[in-house]
Amino acid sequence: MDRAAELAILHSLLHYAETKTTALADSAWDNPVSAYICPDRHRREEAVLIRGRPLVWGLSCDWPKPGSYRTDDYAGVPVLTVRGQDGTLRAFINACRHRGTKVANGEGDARVFICPYHAWTYRDDGTLRAVPEADCFPGVLASRPGLTALPLAEKYGMVWVLPTPGSPDLDIDPWLGELAGDLAFWKLDGYHLHARQVHYEDMNWKLPIDTFLESYHFGPLHGETLRRILKPNICDFRAFGPSARLVYARPKLDRLRETPESEWDLMWNSTIVYQMFANTIFSPQGDHIEIFRVFPVDGRPDRAVMETSLYIPKPVETEDEKRHWDANLALAMKVITTEDFPAGKSMQIGFGSGAQTHVIYGRNEPALTHYHRSIRAALGLEVA
Ligand code: FES
Ligand SMILES: [Fe+2]
Repeated sequence: MDRAAELAILHSLLHYAETKTTALADSAWDNPVSAYICPDRHRREEAVLIRGRPLVWGLSCDWPKPGSYRTDDYAGVPVLTVRGQDGTLRAFINACRHRGTKVANGEGDARVFICPYHAWTYRDDGTLRAVPEADCFPGVLASRPGLTALPLAEKYGMVWVLPTPGSPDLDIDPWLGELAGDLAFWKLDGYHLHARQVHYEDMNWKLPIDTFLESYHFGPLHGETLRRILKPNICDFRAFGPSARLVYARPKLDRLRETPESEWDLMWNSTIVYQMFANTIFSPQGDHIEIFRVFPVDGRPDRAVMETSLYIPKPVETEDEKRHWDANLALAMKVITTEDFPAGKSMQIGFGSGAQTHVIYGRNEPALTHYHRSIRAALGLEVA
């Protein structure tokens, strides 16, 4: 994105506000309800969309120094990510090469990982450093030189992991296409993690993503909350391959009509939502960044986990600053967990009820149609 693109988005939002319209799809679109409930379809989604593509794993600041590590099992594979003493961030399957125990848990700082079972020890570049009673395992260092690597990319201040074993170097640009230009624009290297929350919910993993992809519901569902912060049913939309960018207008956008164009600022007058295919929402929000990663749980089409991370421009130094950012996250999570999630759970029950074979996305919900058509295309299903 450049200055011209920034201004074009603001002009389009002003136009939508003036004419009481929004970005429109060519037509409304029917999506089979099976997309949310069918176990066979779900298995295919896990293989293709979750374990077959690079997924956003966080921002570079999540691993601030050599030895910083994180673990999670969300993708159905135990993953250990660690920044080595050489500064390189690497990803591994978090399974000891002896008998498979996890060599690390949670997150923290470590120079070595000692398997809790028999104390095989790994360096922070994943190589196997020591095997107790090594004589009993002839040739083990040659046959099992280290933890099994996963492809990882760190670029634009963001990190991606492809949770299937392969060459550790991942070239992310072909996957991003023109989205790379937008990511560079946000200068993500300068942010710091403030807080992270994890929520498990009884709904398909795509429903938490869906809720970010239209502003049609802001008035009815968020009448007392988001409705006051964002204009309902107004959105600028652009697809980037299977991913997409949505820009929602804040009420103060109207003031731009009396402001010289040279002073117009996109981030302060909007909330921006990137659907980063297929399981991540990346959202620059005025003065901070939110990232939501959503995964299926236990192979179930009706269970999901969402990890929310809030990143801020500089680490908090005072109690006041901490209170400010805590309140910011609390408000976002209140809206999501007490308004969006109950609606999502209710939809999941509705999907299973047999009420209808298809749901419908309106012309004013182009990002939903784009997301679900992109999923069908990735799964090799017919895209009507
Ligand atoms: S399983 Fe890790 S050392 Fe035995
Ligand atoms: Fe919502």
